[in-house]
Amino acid sequence: MKTVNVALIGQGFMGRSHSNAWGQVPKFFKPPIRPVMHTVYGLPEENPHAFAENWGWKNASTNWEELVKSPEIGLVDVVTPNYAHAPVARAALAAGKPVACEKPIAGTLADAREMAEAAKKANIPTFVWFNYRRVPAVALAHQLVKQGKLGDILHVRATYLQDWAGPQVPLLWRFDKKLAGSGAHGDLNAHIVDMTRFVTGREITEVVGAIAETFIKKRKIAASTAAAGGIAAGTTGAEPWGDVTVDDTVLFLARFSGGAVASFEAARQATGNQNRNGFEINGTKGALKFDFERMNELNFYDATLPRAVQGWTNIMVTHGGDHPYVANWWPDAHIIGYEHGFTNQAYDILKVLAGEEPTVPIPDFADAYQTQRVLEAALLSARERRPVKIDEVR
Ligand SMILES: NC(=O)c1ccc[n+]([C@@H]2O[C@H](COP(=O)([O-])OP(=O)(O)OC[C@H]3O[C@@H](n4cnc5c(N)ncnc54)[C@H](O)[C@@H]3O)[C@@H](O)[C@H]2O)c1
Repeated sequence: MKTVNVALIGQGFMGRSHSNAWGQVPKFFKPPIRPVMHTVYGLPEENPHAFAENWGWKNASTNWEELVKSPEIGLVDVVTPNYAHAPVARAALAAGKPVACEKPIAGTLADAREMAEAAKKANIPTFVWFNYRRVPAVALAHQLVKQGKLGDILHVRATYLQDWAGPQVPLLWRFDKKLAGSGAHGDLNAHIVDMTRFVTGREITEVVGAIAETFIKKRKIAASTAAAGGIAAGTTGAEPWGDVTVDDTVLFLARFSGGAVASFEAARQATGNQNRNGFEINGTKGALKFDFERMNELNFYDATLPRAVQGWTNIMVTHGGDHPYVANWWPDAHIIGYEHGFTNQAYDILKVLAGEEPTVPIPDFADAYQTQRVLEAALLSARERRPVKIDEVR
């Protein structure tokens, strides 16, 4: 069987979730190419050898520049803080390696554009881990829209609300513009912009207005920010507090091609919401509703039925014969969790590398650059208090 040697660059939260996915995918799916967990990169202080042993990587490295160039590596998987996506991806593409990169594709629009251009020039497959596309309920929503079940789409309402970022949380890289690019916006709005583009099959054409706000303006400096090359590295060490340089929340209104109007909201201090990543989409023939806190369910409203029996149907998206990806997991009606979306994506990456079609469309660098343009337009709209056409932002 054909194999591909994977190099994983980073070993934090996503390092763990991707390690799990590469390890699980050949067990639950029959990918056309088998992934070999070849080498994991980590910072020296993270002890990448211990990580490699725990997660099943054959080797460990503290030198990503050498690793991505190694002739033994066939796929580079990037799970670093956002600012490091571009240099790692650039080096990997220059060495002729396909790249799978975490989202947002980059911290800045310029980096995202450069990555998309480099991928196009190199003519090498690229992938971005917008993993929520591969939650079976979201993939089903995409299929139902494609089948015309919603008719013309009029409203798109998307929120991604979390509440973990209280004042007790230190100045992680996620609060530093140099390292993250933006805050809740690039972290969470990136997902719902991608997800609604995917489900509707439409492009966002204009951001009509936006608000960006930072509620907590200073945070205690964390050792991990220094490790990631951030703000603390530039201080004397005597200074315990640093400035938060990104948003805590961004809300914006937008228009989709085809006429739908849309609202987006990302927040990290929306008390009571732990991971409420969801949408409601209303069309002339029906509507769909999804909430990641109940990720095995999709709500569908069929407005073509007689009015007397119209109502929301709660679909358990757990039937192998009918629902994407489900047949590869457990017997019908045995639910899945967060990590399965990543394994489903690992499967589709391997299919594309083998020249096959993915189960549902998978974003490459060019696709993720479109999402980044929308994110940039929203920041510009908030800063200049004006509508911004996506065509303005390149
Ligand atoms: N798809 C999702 O649902 C999802 C969820 C969380 C994070 N993410 C994305 O994944 C990426 C990593 O986030 P995370 O939560 O795993 O972060 P993390 O802080 O937990 O881990 C980041 C890792 O990157 C490595 N690293 C740190 N600085 C580096 C540098 N300068 N150069 C190279 N490597 C470095 C380290 O190994 C570190 O452990 C980010 O782009 C983030 O937006 C995606």
